[in-house]
Amino acid sequence: MKKISAVILVLLAGVTSSCMTATAQERGAVYKPSAENIAARHWFQDAKFGIFIHWGVYSLMAGAGEKDVAEWVMEEKQIPIDKYERLATFFNPVKFDADKWVQDIKASGAKYITITSKHHDGFAMYDSKVSNYNIAKRTPFKRDILKELKAACDKAGIKLFFYYSQLDWHHPEYYPRGRTGNVYTGRPQSGDWDSYIDYQNAQLRELLTNYGDIGGIWFDGWWDQEKGPMKDRWRLSETYKMIHDLQPQALIINNHHVAPYPGEDVQPFEQDLPGENDAGFNTTFVSNEMPLEMAQTMNGSWGFNLVDDRFKSTKELISALVGAAGRNSNYLMNTGPMPDGQIQAENIKTFHEMGEWLKIYGESIYGTRGGPIGPRPWGVTTNKDKTIYIHILDWKDGEIFIPLTDIKIGDATLLGKDEKILYEMTDDGVIFKIDREALQNWDMIIKVNLL
Ligand code: GLC
Repeated sequence: MKKISAVILVLLAGVTSSCMTATAQERGAVYKPSAENIAARHWFQDAKFGIFIHWGVYSLMAGAGEKDVAEWVMEEKQIPIDKYERLATFFNPVKFDADKWVQDIKASGAKYITITSKHHDGFAMYDSKVSNYNIAKRTPFKRDILKELKAACDKAGIKLFFYYSQLDWHHPEYYPRGRTGNVYTGRPQSGDWDSYIDYQNAQLRELLTNYGDIGGIWFDGWWDQEKGPMKDRWRLSETYKMIHDLQPQALIINNHHVAPYPGEDVQPFEQDLPGENDAGFNTTFVSNEMPLEMAQTMNGSWGFNLVDDRFKSTKELISALVGAAGRNSNYLMNTGPMPDGQIQAENIKTFHEMGEWLKIYGESIYGTRGGPIGPRPWGVTTNKDKTIYIHILDWKDGEIFIPLTDIKIGDATLLGKDEKILYEMTDDGVIFKIDREALQNWDMIIKVNLL
């Protein structure tokens, strides 16, 4: 007995130490971004605004009549794999027109698109050779929508990123499983984790070799194993190295909700302004070295939901874009196209309204970085060269005090009107006299040119 438990202890110790080594390796790996990667990061930060697209066979279920269900329908309605697979045989989005998508998205003022290449359901929205569980092989539609979207993006000068779920509710070797995709799926209670990671990397290799230069890869699903046995067994360093070797400019973004791992290029925040963590699952750590990105839904759903009409107003979405920019972050705004291939009309309308706003006020967003004054209850500041933009999102009075010191103001104007704004310098900052009418704007922007 004793001998056996000693053997078990030794074995356990081996497992623990190999896990710890894996963590230490992933966390401690030295990553020096290449020159191409650094240039891509600058491009990304200048671009400021992207559109997220969640589209897959789950879109057919349209949330199954529930507001809070969408791309998670397989898990939330406990649909076994053999039944879920039938969805693919109905997926025939005959109204899909990549050029139309890109035109409407471009009209919003967004500079890049991030689209789901494979979500947690494991279904690839492109012609993958390593698995036939994909749009080209399993649907009557047969077309590789990523290829079409990439061609449309290239024509329009929009960069394309691929979302890729590390978590997979369909692949039999995704085992041991984490907190989702369990018994109901009908998968065997065994599997070879490493062969799943090999599969994942083979799919990523396809995405990085068959679609020309891409903006990057947006990972999701790591959190499935956060409290699970495979937490440190994703082989992140190997995967990230492969991506950067294939395309040095490709930015790696991982929505794991923890502090960034070496090899990652952008820190994302889900449904939250960086550092705020109102959603409750984001980290409060905010990198001051890497670009940041906040992802948000236009209603309450990532994938298409038939009954979710909690659409945020254009004013709210603009405030989120501005709030992100003032926190030195990009804004990735999500739309869930319908199963017929069209983007929801409500979203298209909003795209155009945002684009109209950006045509006038875009100079205070694009190419800027977080300004000298951190977020305040009234709003934020952004900065480009010798110009500071003061974004007043919520203020009611005729004067506002901004704690800007040690500056020499050349002039201050109301952006969009080119009217001079009166101001008074004090020892602690500047008091701007406000045009009360302009306070009605979604965002009243004082443009301060420094000498
Ligand atoms: C979450 C969800 C996922 C969604 C993602 C977008 O991780 O699990 O469905 O794609 O957020 O940020």
